[in-house]
Amino acid sequence: METRKQTHVAILTSPGMGHIIPSLELGKSLVSQHDLKVTLFIPTTSKSPQSSTLHNNQDGLNVINLPPVDITHLVAGETSLVVRITTIVRESLASLRSIIETSQQTPTVLIIDLFSTDALDIADEFKMSKYMFSTSNMSAYAFLAYLPKIKRVKNNNDLVSRLTELVHVPGCKPIRVGLLADPNTGSYGCMLRHVTRFKELSGVLLNTFEDLEQETYRALIDDEIAELIPTPSVYPVGPIIKPTVGPSKNQAIHCLSWLDNQPNGSVLFVSFGSGGSLSSEQVTELAFGLELSQQRFIWVVRNPIDFVLPSSYYLDAGNTKEIDPSDFFPDGFLARTQQVGLVLPNWAPQVEILSHASVGCFLSHCGWNSTLESILNGVPMIPWPLFADQHLNATLLSDDIKVAARTQIPPGKEVIRREEIKRMIRLVMEEGDEEGQNLRRRAKELKTSALRAISIGGSSYNSLCQLVEKWNTESD
Ligand code: UDX
Repeated sequence: METRKQTHVAILTSPGMGHIIPSLELGKSLVSQHDLKVTLFIPTTSKSPQSSTLHNNQDGLNVINLPPVDITHLVAGETSLVVRITTIVRESLASLRSIIETSQQTPTVLIIDLFSTDALDIADEFKMSKYMFSTSNMSAYAFLAYLPKIKRVKNNNDLVSRLTELVHVPGCKPIRVGLLADPNTGSYGCMLRHVTRFKELSGVLLNTFEDLEQETYRALIDDEIAELIPTPSVYPVGPIIKPTVGPSKNQAIHCLSWLDNQPNGSVLFVSFGSGGSLSSEQVTELAFGLELSQQRFIWVVRNPIDFVLPSSYYLDAGNTKEIDPSDFFPDGFLARTQQVGLVLPNWAPQVEILSHASVGCFLSHCGWNSTLESILNGVPMIPWPLFADQHLNATLLSDDIKVAARTQIPPGKEVIRREEIKRMIRLVMEEGDEEGQNLRRRAKELKTSALRAISIGGSSYNSLCQLVEKWNTESD
């Protein structure tokens, strides 16, 4: 009997752990569950995390780190993250093209991500079907699709009112323009350039699931409002998250055995994702807030933001940097909290921590991967958004999905004081609080529906099957 040639799918991710991790997991699942041949391409710079520690060829997935590019002569130091990422991807395209050109079996499908639309030209050249994997949620995607409708403003007075203006995207809660994108910045222009190419795509895979964002999903597939948010077909295929691999490094072993000794649901996990860090003043307030709350905690700390450019953290995430928290913690904090707290410098085994029964709440920057990891483990959240889609995610989680406490984290540089931090933590962690009980119940419900979505026959599982069938038919 003649055997079918496997369909070859290429995934081009963007630099940054928040993009690489879900793309890697998507690739693994296409290989292991759907029997496709998949090559994941990762653009890199000389400072990118070493491939051996992060993404060796895994589970049959072919992972190629594109040769490092140097963009220092192309972008100024303060250039926005969106522009930097876009530039890195663009500078890597010549290498991508040459690998595809010489590959023994040219991929028939190219899956790009939000910041790599420049690669669509390569897909055209090699006659590949064009898809995108958006690593964030459906609301963030809907806002992006809506972006061309937001007009630029002419002067600064208009700008101030524009930033506080509410945008009503069909299927989404209203959101202030300023939280999403400042129409007068370079990153807005760059994002808009990506968005205008969405129409070339045959479909968009989203790392979310139908039940989580029902209204937005309905709006995105409603032909009658297609004029307002024009989009190719959308396929919610999530949650796609990193699996727990257990303690493989010393830090993980120490951290998980510390958790083993704490009561169930008693530990607050504090982390700001792969790129987040706070100002020195905010670190001090958070330290005192944790102390005042009298709750157990694990805190992943980074050098305060005043020491380093945030974008350099984000793009180098996963690299180990030497830091000494006693350089910037309040005097005596580590000694006073020794019995109840664990401070981890830079990076933690996050999925392992969130899946541990002792963890009761996640104080998070609301990066979408972190959010999905929390949801899949039934852990309620305290939102502390910092940049990018995180403010939008925080609003979605508190007001719509109701798995996160309602907090007043300002979008600007305002410092959140220790009393407010204590209040937020107690509200979720203390047994008696009704809002906390509701959040815990909701987190458990969402865990069940997330697991249902990715199980055989679930909505996300079916969406991915539908796509794979299409790709297989097209490549025959
Ligand atoms: C940013 C955006 O805010 C996010 O919404 C977007 O989808 C991707 O880029 P980022 O800061 O990378 O996100 O956070 P997040 O999306 O949460 O991803 C971080 C990933 O790194 C998670 O998978 C998390 O488990 C992992 N991580 C982070 C660790 O394993 N350990 C850490 O200490 C920090």
